[in-house]
Amino acid sequence: MDHRSEHEKGDAPLARALAEQKGRVSFHMPGHRPGSSFLEPPFDRLFELDTTELPRTGDLAAPSGHVEEAYQLAADYFGAGRTWFITSGTTASIHIMIAATLREGDFIIIPRAVHIAAVHALALMGVNPIFVLPEKRKSFPDGQPDVASYVRTIQKNPNAKACFVTRPDYFGRTIDLSMIVKEAEKHDMLVLVDEAHGAHLAAAPDLLPQTGLFEGADIVCQSAHKTLPALTPASLLHLSQASVEKGAVDPLRVARKVKVFQTSSPSFLIGASIDRARQYLHQHGREAIERLIQKNDELTKNLPPYYQRIMPEGSDRTRLVLDYSKTGHDRRSFIRHLDLLGIDPELVDLSRAVFIMGLEQSDEDYERLLEALITLKPISDKAKLESHQNALERLTRERDQLLSESFHFHVPLREAMFGQKPDESVAVAPIAPYPPGLPIIWPGEKITRRHQNYLAVLSAGEVVTRGAELVFV
Ligand SMILES: Cc1ncc(COP(=O)(O)O)c(C=O)c1O
Repeated sequence: MDHRSEHEKGDAPLARALAEQKGRVSFHMPGHRPGSSFLEPPFDRLFELDTTELPRTGDLAAPSGHVEEAYQLAADYFGAGRTWFITSGTTASIHIMIAATLREGDFIIIPRAVHIAAVHALALMGVNPIFVLPEKRKSFPDGQPDVASYVRTIQKNPNAKACFVTRPDYFGRTIDLSMIVKEAEKHDMLVLVDEAHGAHLAAAPDLLPQTGLFEGADIVCQSAHKTLPALTPASLLHLSQASVEKGAVDPLRVARKVKVFQTSSPSFLIGASIDRARQYLHQHGREAIERLIQKNDELTKNLPPYYQRIMPEGSDRTRLVLDYSKTGHDRRSFIRHLDLLGIDPELVDLSRAVFIMGLEQSDEDYERLLEALITLKPISDKAKLESHQNALERLTRERDQLLSESFHFHVPLREAMFGQKPDESVAVAPIAPYPPGLPIIWPGEKITRRHQNYLAVLSAGEVVTRGAELVFV
């Protein structure tokens, strides 16, 4: 139970402490003498609040005073037992989450289609993946398993120490975590959630999918910079109160791993932006989300019929995902059109565009986006359109299969990444179109002609693939 007054909850103590540093004389790191090295705009403002660990600013890695207060305010807001501000992204939070809960040689239940940060973490820590696989001849959309497949995998592998779930995914899709948690609990298995795309969910539980913490996850990380007004790459790492009380997650072990995977000079600027973003959520979050949901619905209603909004049951309605394949335009032509009109989407794949709406996205931005989408004239040649759509359907099937498939590690994961160089047909890093960063090939897996063919199609569409240099040698 949070006993703070509204006034206290509306405070941002870390952000306030930094603002109070203004005007002081600096004889400490960083070397730019806060804000006075570069006097020309826009750099004159950029450096002002950047500072280091001082008695008056505190230490993000050893929280006390106003830092601890900021962490606690965040924990209370998000419904966690303990919260950390991680200033090197959810990438680092995932590393900490895995290192703090698993030990070398342990098994973790995990889909193949996870962010590359999770693949790196397993390789670094020597943790063994047990993949969540679909039933024979089936595949998961974008490689994201259904609840039944998770439950089946947990039942078959009761000795695994943890289960890793990404929720929501890049496309705003969620999964009913409570069923997974229930099954995992029977086997004393921890549930770790990559909620990189869900830092805003807590602001409107009646309008959006429930958070991982609410659904019973043990440990959850969120990218504040993706959906909240926070600096890149601000991240939140939450431990559940119940797991701390039960001793399932040890906050001291988490604290030690924070020091391993985060720089010894975490950014106050980024940390304060998390504090400020949490304050914003407390004050305006729900109304901002209600508005975004309305604006997204309104925009969708006004779209021509050759766009289709993709929003499976239980999706995050603040995320706008549009299938543009019926326009007949390929990825390059779609992006070029938006680019000429000054529009930058978050992700465009071969058939879909993802728009991440900021909590304060203006009416004018929505109007410009609608205008840009409407002014793209669809291809009128019916035969061309049909063959374009058929090709996309085949590629979508191929993508889902590649992201869902079982595979054999030709070389063990850790050895492939950090051991002696294997032969060239074996991947030594995850190979993943980016975004969304889900590996088509894991380190240690053989690169096949099928992978090459699929990645060559992506490359022709100018999709950037991390690790592509390993495929096309
Ligand atoms: C699902 C998912 N997890 C983790 C990450 C890594 O987050 P960050 O950029 O905050 O390091 C991303 C980044 O896109 C992501 O999409």
